[in-house]
Amino acid sequence: MQINRIPFIAGNWKMNMTHLEAIKFVQDLSFEFENKNNCEVCLCPPFTALRSVKNIIDTDKLDFKLGAQNMHWEKSGAFTGEISPEMLSALEVDYVIIGHSERRQYFAETNQTVNKKLKVCFDYNLKPILCVGESLNIRQEGNAIKFVLKQVEECLETIEENKVIEITIAYEPIWAIGTGKTATSQDANEMCGEIRNKIASLYNYQISQTIRIQYGGSVKPSNISELMSMPEIDGALVGGASINVKDFLAIINY
Ligand code: PGA
Repeated sequence: MQINRIPFIAGNWKMNMTHLEAIKFVQDLSFEFENKNNCEVCLCPPFTALRSVKNIIDTDKLDFKLGAQNMHWEKSGAFTGEISPEMLSALEVDYVIIGHSERRQYFAETNQTVNKKLKVCFDYNLKPILCVGESLNIRQEGNAIKFVLKQVEECLETIEENKVIEITIAYEPIWAIGTGKTATSQDANEMCGEIRNKIASLYNYQISQTIRIQYGGSVKPSNISELMSMPEIDGALVGGASINVKDFLAIINY
């Protein structure tokens, strides 16, 4: 059975833009925004700009979803510097990126902490974008698929069927992030297909065909069409090119 998955493009702004710059950016973006492919489009600014971006989305009735880039798994408590799911939910955030490779690399996140974060999302109506992906070493050793599927399995541990369908998985090979090197669309498609098969074996076929899988890593206007033409790739998680109005618009209208 072929289930129609809605294309999903998310912009991960990373640690860029003050809230004032964010307001200007979203205004500029909305001014020229057209959505030829009827994609779901999500903007993921830093925490400090969430409220401002949400206000523009609501006031101007813009067709953008709002996403955060991370969160803690506890509702509240003595976790200096952290942001809770409750706080994101109160800001009416739709999506939250969980386990981005930069969080794993620089802030010691593991599949186990990712799993805790995923589990709490559902209590707060937050839809997770779960990031997985291998390093260059792992790919060169020929272990990329094994490594990524283990990440998927450990991150999803004990997450139930009715919850897992809320998750978008973003396959982001670390060696392609911010480097200008993109995985070939065939390699990206192969990995997304492997992830989908893994979901089928952990859950069932129907769920594997429903869940959306994005590719991320140096997505730009020049490579988005080819990536989106691949049958297993349902969208993109875009870093660098998502903070440039023209580039992001070109990506949305691939
Ligand atoms: P990039 O980042 O598009 O700048 O490579 C992607 C990401 O980190 O999500």
